[in-house]
Amino acid sequence: MRYDTGIIRPEMRDAGVRMRIGSAPPADLRLVKKGLRTLHTLELMAVNIYRCQLAPRPGDLDRVLVAAMCNEMTHLQDFQVKLYEYGWRPSPLRWAYWIVGWCFGTFSRLMGQKAILRTGVWVETKAVHHYAELLARIPWDDETRAIVEKNQADEYGHIERWKGMLDRQR
Ligand SMILES: [Fe+2]
Ligand SMILES: [Fe+2]
Repeated sequence: MRYDTGIIRPEMRDAGVRMRIGSAPPADLRLVKKGLRTLHTLELMAVNIYRCQLAPRPGDLDRVLVAAMCNEMTHLQDFQVKLYEYGWRPSPLRWAYWIVGWCFGTFSRLMGQKAILRTGVWVETKAVHHYAELLARIPWDDETRAIVEKNQADEYGHIERWKGMLDRQR
């Protein structure tokens, strides 16, 4: 299936929120819960990376970093909503990834534009692999699977954008 990665915040209607408590066998739900918590935590890190890559003084990359941050906020929101639809809560350990994201974002910003772009490529490449693994291993319901797939497509879009910008700097 193909997804339009130019849409960084897809429309969501009130009726799209649906409670899913007990909607699958317990063994499946255990896997879905683990997957949603993992994705929610990683997206929290991603939001922080792009947020912290934005310099206090405006720079050339700001527009694309703000767009990437917005897109990651959409992903975070997607997985947070799904967690609560199933009656679960985010991972209590997610603060550690908030700090990791802050470190990646802040230190790459201090090292300059190329470091920002290289960090983006590295982190997003890890992300698409992680998404692929979770898509293969977890019995997602159809609506959640479509969201996971769209968000993985967005991460591919981020890799392409950062790689293209790095190539143009050479
Ligand atoms: Fe993301
Ligand atoms: Fe991303």
